[in-house]
Formats: sequence, structure tokens, C-alpha cells
Amino acid sequence: MPKPSGPIYACAKCDAQTSKWTGRCLECGAWGSLKEAESAESAPERKHDFSKTKSGALTRFSADTAKSAPATPTRCAPIDLVLGGGLVAGSVTLIAGEPGIGKSTLLSQAAIAIAASGRRVMYVTGEESPAQIRRRLERLSDKIPDGLLFLDDTDAQVIAATIANERPDLAIVDSIQSVRLSDVNGDAGSVTQVKACAATITEAAKKSHVPVVFVGQVTKDGDVAGPRVLEHLVDAVLYLEGDKDHRYRILRALKHRFGSTDETALLTMSERGMEPVEDPSSELLKDRATNTAGSAIGCIIEGHRPMLIELQALVSPAGYGTPIRRATGVDPQRLGMLLAVIAKRAGIYALDKDVYANAAGGIDARDQSVDLAVAVAIASAVKEKPIDPRTGIIGEIGLAGELRPISLPELRLKEFARMGFQNVIVPKRQGTHAPKGLHVIEAATLREALDHLLF
Ligand SMILES: Nc1ncnc2c1ncn2[C@@H]1O[C@H](COP(=O)(O)OP(=O)(O)O)[C@@H](O)[C@H]1O
Ligand SMILES: [Mg+2]
Repeated sequence: MPKPSGPIYACAKCDAQTSKWTGRCLECGAWGSLKEAESAESAPERKHDFSKTKSGALTRFSADTAKSAPATPTRCAPIDLVLGGGLVAGSVTLIAGEPGIGKSTLLSQAAIAIAASGRRVMYVTGEESPAQIRRRLERLSDKIPDGLLFLDDTDAQVIAATIANERPDLAIVDSIQSVRLSDVNGDAGSVTQVKACAATITEAAKKSHVPVVFVGQVTKDGDVAGPRVLEHLVDAVLYLEGDKDHRYRILRALKHRFGSTDETALLTMSERGMEPVEDPSSELLKDRATNTAGSAIGCIIEGHRPMLIELQALVSPAGYGTPIRRATGVDPQRLGMLLAVIAKRAGIYALDKDVYANAAGGIDARDQSVDLAVAVAIASAVKEKPIDPRTGIIGEIGLAGELRPISLPELRLKEFARMGFQNVIVPKRQGTHAPKGLHVIEAATLREALDHLLF
């Protein structure tokens, strides 16, 4: 990362830092509070005398090094799966996601499961009232276990003290943006408050060996005081993502000090909470349109899991003005580029039409490995010719219409084979071996791929 050049300004009121001077602190709103902060260059030179400091122990990477800290299952399947077994004593986990995506639901499920096994859970209700949480718990479980207790307080000092003194088996702070420290400037949710509160509660967690989970709200725009400022402070960061209007959510680990970040869970959201999907490809292809033009099957990789996904396109005559481009789960910029390449390199013209492209199920497929599948879906829609439902499609498309290799081709081909596909179109330069029962069709360009599929 390039070193920031020029001075850094710090707010005298809330400590927020910025590289641009403004008359008013954008964080706490104080006027004229930004002062030039001491930079590395202007800091007084420090003299080191290393002979007085005890050196650290150098250790070999032995088999013991890889042993992970013992984790206690939360018995909430998605969380245990993604965290590789459960929560480690004294660890701090952040679950981040947009409002309404289901963070409180998921943690309520974990809280119920842990308390039902005879342990004590402390749920800090900052974002919602205890009554609202109670209604959610009633919806998720027939019985609310006695060990599930709430603390209706937003003072981080009180929360930390309660963790240290009560030593519950799990503490949930829902959310970290709703708590504050009275001796720190700024409103609850500001960068300074969020950092200071998280540090205070983390200290209590470490000292008392209580696992703590913070809920962090992510805003679509800016995300100033969002979970990003906490990522380096906590042991694990989980993101809950998805489209609120669809039933699927993906829980993934972005950082995990005690385990791998490879596990990802596909979840379905229902009245009774979230359930992990055992076989994502079967689930995602369950409602696919067969024998309909504008549908193609691609494969994305989540963590280390391949998931087959239906890419759909609808092309219709445009009204007056600029044609509509709408991409759901597909990169909108990529869609524009693909339309240009399809027109220029394959002679299939949809630039003057309204084009809707969609990854079915509200899944995020903004991934170049589905370029070819999206392009094929569009071409199929324009030509009004369905694609053979037993043919899978992988490949990235370059501006010259050439097909480029993608990552982990074997994993994807194996998934197509497992799901009963017979053919897969693969970029020629990929050079992969076909798994048993699967016929690999190599294509060097988009035009070649379309020749196989449409004509
Ligand atoms: N009565 C209900 N029945 C089914 N689903 C509900 C009900 N109430 C809320 N939900 C679902 O729960 C979601 C809110 O989940 P919640 O855990 O509160 O999100 P977050 O904590 O991330 O803001 C809603 O978007 C909705 O999908
Ligand atoms: Mg919530």
C-alpha cells in the first residue's frame, strides 16, 4: 500500500483521523476541531537499547503448532461449520452484515441451542428491546431455555463488568454500534466509540475466558463506523450476506485466528430461522427453468465449495431513451462489457435492447468464471433457443472474445459430473482432464462456444 503523503489531521474532540482537512469533523460534527497530527517524520527520534529488553523465544513449526485451540460447539450448525467446530474460550467474533439480513436471528438460534444444553448465555440487547428479542425467540423455539439471559444496557463498561463477574458461557452484544462509553467522545456507532467499546469488552472476554460475539451492522454506503474498523481487533470475522428478498444467505469467515477461512455455509431463511443447505448445487438448481431460452448453468466457488448456479437473461425491445440494463447477482459493469463483446465478436446484437441478467436465488455471482454462462444466457435469449439442460458452462471472456482459463477447474468439473451433467464447455487454454462420465468441449472463443450450443 502506498504510504499516505502529506499531513494527517486528528479531531481534538473524538480522535477521528483524516488525511483531508475539513472545517467540521465528519465523525463527531465538531467545528474547527481538526488539528495536524504528529506524523512519523515529525515524531521525536527514539533511541533503542535492545540489550535491556528480554528477547522472545524462537520456536520450530512442530506438529503442535497446527493444533487449534479447543472450540466449544454452539450447536448452531452454520456457525459451528464456518468456525470449524465452535467458539474458543475468550475469543471475540464479529458477525457482520446489512440490517435485516438475519444476524440477530442466527445468534438467537445459537443462544437458544447453547442455553438448551444447560449453559448460560448473556444477550446484550442494544439494537432492539428485550420484548422484540423475546418475540423472535418465541418464533424460533417452542421453549426459551432458562439459561438464556438478557442485559438491557448499552454502557460498554457495564457490559464488560457483567461478563467478567457473571462469566456466562457465551456473551452476545447485539450490536456493537449501539453501545457506548461515557468517557469517550462521540455518539454510539462512531469510529472512536465502536473501537473503544470493542476494546473494553474484548479485554473482559480475554480476562474471564468468555467467548464474545459482536454483531456489526454494515451500511451499503460508506461504512465509516462499520465492522471494518473492528476486523483487526477481533479473532474471527464472519460475514452474513445475501439478498434480503430471497431465502438464501451465505455465511463466510473472512478472518479466523483459530481455524481456516475456507468453510462457507449456504443457508435458507425461514420463519423458524436459518438452516444450512446440505447440497447447495441441488438446492440452487431445484427451480431451474429447463427448455427455456435465456438460461445457462455456471459454477461459482464459495470458500472451497463449488456451487452450480443458474444464470438467466431476458432481452426485450427497448422503449424510448437509453435501453435498460439490470443485473441482479451479476456484475453490472461486466454485463455491459459482455453485451459489447457478444455484439462485436459473436455478431449477436442486443445493445439496443432492454437486458436483464440474473443469478437465480439471489446468489452473488459477481465472478468472472461465470462470464461465459452469462453471455450464453444472453445469446440464448436473443436467439430464442434454449441451451441443452445437461450442458454446463465455465470460462472468463476477454475483450477480443477469447475464452480465458479460470481457477479450480477440476473442482467445478467434478461438481457438474456429480450433478449428472453430460457436457461442459471449457476454455481451450484451460487444459483440464474430464472426470468420468463428463464430456469436455473445448472452445477458444465465445463464437466457438456459441457454435456448439446454439446452432
Ligand atoms: N415473522 C417473521 N417470519 C419470518 N421471517 C421473519 C419474520 N420476522 C422477520 N423475519 C426475517 O428476519 C429478517 C430479520 O432478521 P434479523 O435477524 O432481525 O436481521 P439483522 O439482525 O441482521 O438486522 C427479516 O429480513 C425477515 O426476513
Ligand atoms: Mg439485529
